[in-house]
Amino acid sequence: MARATIPSNGEAHEAILSTMRGMRDGDADWKHGRTWSLVYYAGEAHHELLQRAHDMFFAENALNPMAFKSLKRMEAEVVQMTASMLHAPDDACGTMTTGGTESLLMAVKAMRDRAAERGPKTSKPNVVAPKTAHPALDKAGHYFGLEIRKAPVGPDMRANVSAMKKLIDKNTVLLFASAPQYPHGVIDPIDEIGRVALSRGIPFHVDSCIGGFVLPWVERLGYPIPAFDFRVPGVTSMSADLHKYGFAVKGASVIVYRDISYLEHQFFLETEFPGGIYASPSMTGTRGGGPIAAAWASLKAVGEDGFIEHTRKAMEAARLLQEGIRSIPELVVVGPPDATLVAWGAKDRAVDVYAVADRLEDAGWSADRQQHPATVHHTVTSNHLPVIDEYISDLRDAVAFVKAHPELADRGNAAMYGMMAKVPFRGMVRQGVMNVMRNMYGANALEFDPSKLQGNTVMDKVMEKVGPTLNKVFDRVEALKERLK
Ligand SMILES: Cc1ncc(COP(=O)(O)O)c(C=O)c1O
Repeated sequence: MARATIPSNGEAHEAILSTMRGMRDGDADWKHGRTWSLVYYAGEAHHELLQRAHDMFFAENALNPMAFKSLKRMEAEVVQMTASMLHAPDDACGTMTTGGTESLLMAVKAMRDRAAERGPKTSKPNVVAPKTAHPALDKAGHYFGLEIRKAPVGPDMRANVSAMKKLIDKNTVLLFASAPQYPHGVIDPIDEIGRVALSRGIPFHVDSCIGGFVLPWVERLGYPIPAFDFRVPGVTSMSADLHKYGFAVKGASVIVYRDISYLEHQFFLETEFPGGIYASPSMTGTRGGGPIAAAWASLKAVGEDGFIEHTRKAMEAARLLQEGIRSIPELVVVGPPDATLVAWGAKDRAVDVYAVADRLEDAGWSADRQQHPATVHHTVTSNHLPVIDEYISDLRDAVAFVKAHPELADRGNAAMYGMMAKVPFRGMVRQGVMNVMRNMYGANALEFDPSKLQGNTVMDKVMEKVGPTLNKVFDRVEALKERLK
């Protein structure tokens, strides 16, 4: 395939827009609730408001708050609205970032630098977290040179605080937990970890990236929610993503700190640059005005009443989803009863979860596959309420079909995901994923079909030859391990 080049003559705007409309044909249908993550849709009127707010400020740059006082004001108000929602004290402060990942990167970098300033120096600072912490934490460790120590979780998937305590030492610069964690929607014992943080004098970050803009309203609706925010004294920082349940435009999250003595370590200053004194609050330099403006507009437009109503519908949809899953005898719900994040797995090996996921995709649903244990994940929003019945009916059919055709577990994506989850040689899995990335982003990126896990040379070859047999061997090993427990 020829490499793309900039056209020698600029093209007509209408022709460009029409090509782009065509490109969307194969994309996931998020508007009608067919995706269970990636897009948070609060209806057409809100969608149009976001577009208009984003448009109004799309050219502005929050890199220089002196030039764009409008953006500075909107960012400060978004941070304060978020801080109030999370019951942060009056001294709380923070910044907007481009998303959950940047918020976590900043929390880790800031606490590393805070610890370094307060000495004693260490060459290998560490963060202690439960195993269910989002990989953005590992990314932070990788980028900024910290060791991320992951403690096992309990059978209910909640952080095991005694296991976390054992990993803490003098080089621990941050404790980390989630409210809730992404895979199963479980809220970690924030209160208990907060007490450990206080007694050891270690900062504590609560990752509420996915839950920040939903848990406060779940609580207001009267569901029993354990303490998860700044009301817990040991909590020193929290992240909450506007571009998730805040129904904002992508590229918007908030990080809030208990006070400026934490936030100041997030800043980057360079005073000797010939281009002028440079001061930046977060990872990026140039910061688009669009996401800031749209986030501000979103919070103003939805309001507390709107958030409560969206949350009521999302909780109802999640309840119906759980009820539907439980009505399928082969499946189990993994996670707590009252949560907008719902995961299901199989009761036993008679049904292969990944083969069911393949069938669901054939029926037009996008399926978010998880591992350890094999489950399918749903981030439920108000937009899903009208489609739950249809989904459950398709899920029931998919389960029946896979049960009747167990060989599907050894084919296509199911075989690949199964193998990736089970293979004990994790280095081989890494290499396989790296090959996929090389193909997806390499010089032949245009030839890569993202709907197939193709071109993953080592894994492909192994799968072709011995995949089905290996899958059975791994299944036996797992069954044996379960029996020995
Ligand atoms: C708990 C949690 N933390 C962090 C992130 C990362 O957020 P983002 O994808 O916006 O970078 C996510 C994303 O789903 C999440 O669920």
